[in-house]
Amino acid sequence: MEDVLRIGGVGVDVLAATYGTPLYIYDQHAIEERMEDYRRYFHSDVLHCEVLYASKAFCIQEMMRLAKRHDLSLDVVSGGELYTALAAGVDPKRIYFHGNNKSPREIEEALQAGVGTLIVDNVMEGECLCAQMSQRTGEVHVLLRVNPGVTAHTHEYIVTAHDDSKFGISIHEQEAIVRLIERFSQTAGIVFDGFHAHIGSQIFEREAFETEIAILGRFLAELQHTYGIEAHSLDVGGGFAVRYTDADAPIPLPQLCQTITAACERQKQLHGLALERILIEPGRSIVAQAGLTLYTVGFQKQTAHRHYLFVDGGMSDNIRPALYQAAYACDVANRMNDPKTVRTCVAGKCCESGDVLIEEVMLPPCQAGDLLAVYTTGAYGFSMASHYNRLPRPAVVFIKDGQARCVVRRESYADLLRGEDVET
Ligand code: LLP
Repeated sequence: MEDVLRIGGVGVDVLAATYGTPLYIYDQHAIEERMEDYRRYFHSDVLHCEVLYASKAFCIQEMMRLAKRHDLSLDVVSGGELYTALAAGVDPKRIYFHGNNKSPREIEEALQAGVGTLIVDNVMEGECLCAQMSQRTGEVHVLLRVNPGVTAHTHEYIVTAHDDSKFGISIHEQEAIVRLIERFSQTAGIVFDGFHAHIGSQIFEREAFETEIAILGRFLAELQHTYGIEAHSLDVGGGFAVRYTDADAPIPLPQLCQTITAACERQKQLHGLALERILIEPGRSIVAQAGLTLYTVGFQKQTAHRHYLFVDGGMSDNIRPALYQAAYACDVANRMNDPKTVRTCVAGKCCESGDVLIEEVMLPPCQAGDLLAVYTTGAYGFSMASHYNRLPRPAVVFIKDGQARCVVRRESYADLLRGEDVET
């Protein structure tokens, strides 16, 4: 192995010298390959299968363009994500608009833009949509978000009858669901397609998805056989785990896709469902592993119990360790062959004790100016970045075929002031 880490054939030392640090670096080929893999493996002979990229994981125009190029649909959750998708030239018909509290204006914007599908999250939103549609022409497809009472997070999942989640209508509220679907059918321009559910994020257990789909299957059967309501589409959400550290063992993609398609086919057959189309919404698992964050090492200090290594970013560009105690792996990217002899705590530069990127990792002895690569930061890094402590947001580069391309420029100090002092 060379001493310097290379991404897509380009040394990170060259990238740091050209674009500065902190820097989000993406291997474009890895993103595209993952998109293709989803398209290839999420397949059924019985059901039409559609993959939506959950853009919240990493929402920039270039990602939207890649999704479009690889024939994925898009999940957006706000007017801002919608705006980004439209600006990138995504066909509005391929956009699915989520969110538990879309504003009437966002709904209006979506309808105006010709967004293909709205995922209605609660009764009030459904009523708001019906009111808006009765004032206009055109058509919008609707999926109703239901809550199957399965909550999964990383290695555990639970099934509850009572769910206090802010998302979706509980499948136990059947009357409210039936009434809402009746409202949809009475409103010109609304095409009710079926249901959506999402049970959590970074899920490792295939049984969680099998349980979700079995519960949804029974629910669809009840609606179909008791009320004559046919759901032609079922979106089972995203949440597929990725490997952040060696402790993580995600379900391989072919098996994951097969688990979902087989479970849906089984429910269709078991209950004689009218189901024709199934959808999934991966976000993290499309983009997390294709990205890393490159930092420059600054000062170090030794305390009684810890060796701190400070980097030039932190919780402002990756909030996940502070927010979720998320674990990451890293390397000193210009000393890939040096023996790892120092038990190190990697901390950021933000004014908060919790700004620790990696609690404990073995690293080679290093010095100021060395480069630290934190792996698997491609999802929910840039998209959850902030200006805390007035740190400008880092640049984003995509590497493909040995070529680096800056797709988001580094913010300047002037960018931080943009929008202030408007009255003066
Ligand atoms: N669909 C819906 C309705 C969702 O709410 C989400 C994620 C996804 C799809 C995509 O899930 P994914 O495949 O990316 O796990 N900020 C957190 C993750 C929040 C996920 C929210 N919803 C994190 O950094 O771990």
